[in-house]
Amino acid sequence: MSRFWSKVVGTLTPYVPGEQPKIANLIKLNTNENPYPPSPKVLVAIQAELGADAARLRLYPDPSADLLKAAIARTHDITAPQVFVGNGSDEVLAHVFMGLLKHERPVLFPDITYSFYPVYCVLYGVGYRTVPLAADFSIDPADYIQPNGGIIFPNPNAPTGRLLALATIERILLANPDSVVVVDEAYVDFGGETAISLVDRYDNLLVVHTLSKSRSLAGLRVGFAVGDPALIEALERVKNSFNSYPLDRLAIVGAVAALEDAEHFERTRQAVIATRDTLATELRSLGFEVLPSAANFIFARHPQRDAAQLALALREQNIIVRHFKLPRIDQFLRITVGTNGECQALVAALREIPA
Ligand SMILES: Cc1ncc(COP(=O)(O)O)c(C=O)c1O
Repeated sequence: MSRFWSKVVGTLTPYVPGEQPKIANLIKLNTNENPYPPSPKVLVAIQAELGADAARLRLYPDPSADLLKAAIARTHDITAPQVFVGNGSDEVLAHVFMGLLKHERPVLFPDITYSFYPVYCVLYGVGYRTVPLAADFSIDPADYIQPNGGIIFPNPNAPTGRLLALATIERILLANPDSVVVVDEAYVDFGGETAISLVDRYDNLLVVHTLSKSRSLAGLRVGFAVGDPALIEALERVKNSFNSYPLDRLAIVGAVAALEDAEHFERTRQAVIATRDTLATELRSLGFEVLPSAANFIFARHPQRDAAQLALALREQNIIVRHFKLPRIDQFLRITVGTNGECQALVAALREIPA
């Protein structure tokens, strides 16, 4: 606390990201990064943009990142005016809360979900109401048929990994024609079907994506939203009142190259999916209850073993997974799908930890 702080700063409970420890030989399964490197074409594009003397870095990047918007439009068979880009999907989401979800009525999101949502609400003074997930940790669409100032949920949900079918999302859209419904598809490429196919039909739908997960570019910070041009215009207005250049020159060309390498994308995401399914089977054989996951992580609990203690014991063996000390889920571990070797090491370590 300091007398120099503004009133709002004192009220914030900032989001705490998963650790990025500086330990060698770590098996890092705690922040849902991709275990595989990005497309080699990303590096080629970044080197070309830098050139021999990096002289282009003198110049500001394109404030609207038109090259990237065009690449996203091509990849998803939409038009550039339906696309907004930002410095990671976290920044896109921040603008969404400010520009599209701040209304008289509270925004709705699940009680167990991406923990950044309530943080943005407090930062921007957005009222919210959490909606409990069902006992099996699924989202019940009927719970979202109530007055609201907007709706947001990840699909697949985080940290549960559970997926909603597109038809269910359509039910929520149809029941809420006067609210923006935001579907945060950070993990959709690992097992879901994107709702981008619905944006032409629903002017209240905004779909948010990131290149951090399925494109292996968490370090480059690129995210985007797709929706009706009127929704996109709101986000542009917020962005242009905040930071004209959220994406630097290297991020723009790197992201374009990643989007254009369909073969690399397909191969790496299939590898993650296959490893996830093997890991789920092995965890079940160790007695874990594993929620069905359509993401690049697994949410699992053991009926006889304390999750916090398991996470600690794994850490002693240089394996880091995520444990949330939160109601309803404090006996779960969220385990990012690593390489086959990393997941085998995890299973071997779990087998060795004394009960
Ligand atoms: C559900 C969800 N949405 C958005 C993000 C933000 O991703 P980024 O800011 O790296 O694009 C994350 C990151 O873990 C996430 O889990």
